[in-house]
Amino acid sequence: MADANSPAVQPKTKGLFIKTYGCQMNVYDSERMRDVLKPLGYEPVDAPEQADLVVLNTCHIREKATEKVFSELGRLRELKQETGGVLRIAVAGCVAQAEGEEIMRREPAVDMVVGPQAYHRLPEMIARLARKTGDVLETDFAADEKFDALPKSRQVDGPSAFLSVQEGCDKFCSFCVVPYTRGAEYSRSVDAIVAEARELARQGVREVVLIGQNVNAWHGAAPAHDPKGGEWGLGGLIRHVAKIGGIERIRYTTSHPSDMEDDLIAAHGEVEQLAPFLHLPVQAGSDRVLKAMNRKHTAEDYLRIIERVRLARPDIALASDFIVGFPGETEKDFEDTLALVKAVGFAQAYSFKYSPRPGTPAAGMQLQVDEAVKDERLARLQRLINDQATSFNRATIGRRMKVLFTRKGKREGQALGYSPYMQPVHVDEAMHVSNRMAEVEVLDATMSSLKGRLVEAAALA
Ligand code: 5AD
Ligand code: SF4
Repeated sequence: MADANSPAVQPKTKGLFIKTYGCQMNVYDSERMRDVLKPLGYEPVDAPEQADLVVLNTCHIREKATEKVFSELGRLRELKQETGGVLRIAVAGCVAQAEGEEIMRREPAVDMVVGPQAYHRLPEMIARLARKTGDVLETDFAADEKFDALPKSRQVDGPSAFLSVQEGCDKFCSFCVVPYTRGAEYSRSVDAIVAEARELARQGVREVVLIGQNVNAWHGAAPAHDPKGGEWGLGGLIRHVAKIGGIERIRYTTSHPSDMEDDLIAAHGEVEQLAPFLHLPVQAGSDRVLKAMNRKHTAEDYLRIIERVRLARPDIALASDFIVGFPGETEKDFEDTLALVKAVGFAQAYSFKYSPRPGTPAAGMQLQVDEAVKDERLARLQRLINDQATSFNRATIGRRMKVLFTRKGKREGQALGYSPYMQPVHVDEAMHVSNRMAEVEVLDATMSSLKGRLVEAAALA
């Protein structure tokens, strides 16, 4: 027993290595897992070899993502053998949710499986593991319980941080696993979000990125101080977060066209801190394909939304996601996608070959498209998108803009930041700009980044 004079017992420091796959939600969850494990003495280390616990925070969105997890587990099994079985291995995230029991069966080296709504229970699971009692597979859906249980403090590394405001999805696009792995749509309360945003600002965060699988489906009861009362949408939340001192930039991702409400669009023209950037996945340009995807909007609906967004914020940078080779997609359907891309003019876009996911309606559809055809369409779409990204970036040469510098560049003395349009920007004056916003003149541009010069270097120094 500890005697009254001995110092408080500190848990022994243990190494924690979290490898994150997939989307921003997983990046956020990995940071929160780190916060959850900190009181147990776990501190981040740089490599699995230095760790006592390795967590793979997995992604199930496409087949390749899942395959990567199983091959990584193979490597970790060998590492675990080298440690004489001491290393603990946990699988978290969406593969854990979808295939937890299969993972436990197929890979005995795995000690724990924890779904995206259950990682607040990791400390109990680790205790059960040590005592060799109880379940080490937790895949309940209880987003409210999770957020209530997570530590109020957050440890952040730089001037930009993700803040999860919404989880899950009720849209059920026919190709997508998210409604099954992340569960039903859930919105956190205004108070909980504002408290977390304040905590981030207190730690020096300048940019908050409001994230959710379907972030613009976020809605919540207006707080008591709002005389109008009623329900807020994401536009209302953004206006509120913009009032928190220290928050210089706000972004949100990822959105669904059906939830682009008038007030959110208006916020793009009215809230100074809201970055002129919108990631609004459309997936395809053919109405026939959009219907089969269960997207609940047409190509024309999407173009009208873009028109309204541009009316509110003419310089907005637009980004999107595309799937090529969805079952039944013909050459004509694919050309409709190219036509939509040409009609919009994107600053950037992600494009993927359709990947059948177990349990989703599209996986069982007739007329699956040949892999070679998918490859060819993907290459054509990416050429067009790359041309548009290059034009967008080159059009900013000569302009001055506020860049938020988040990390060091690859070269000595170089810093990397992001423009308001989410373009990566390199400057050579790293010594002046770590973790802050600074004005930059754009000197040059490629498809994927800008080169700039600090306008206020002297003043900042
Ligand atoms: N196959 C290919 N791409 C997919 N996406 C989601 N599910 C699939 C799938 N089964 C893409 C969509 C989505 C992005 C996150 O991943 O474009 O917007
Ligand atoms: Fe998946 Fe569609 Fe929901 Fe996006 S809106 S998470 S693509 S089901």
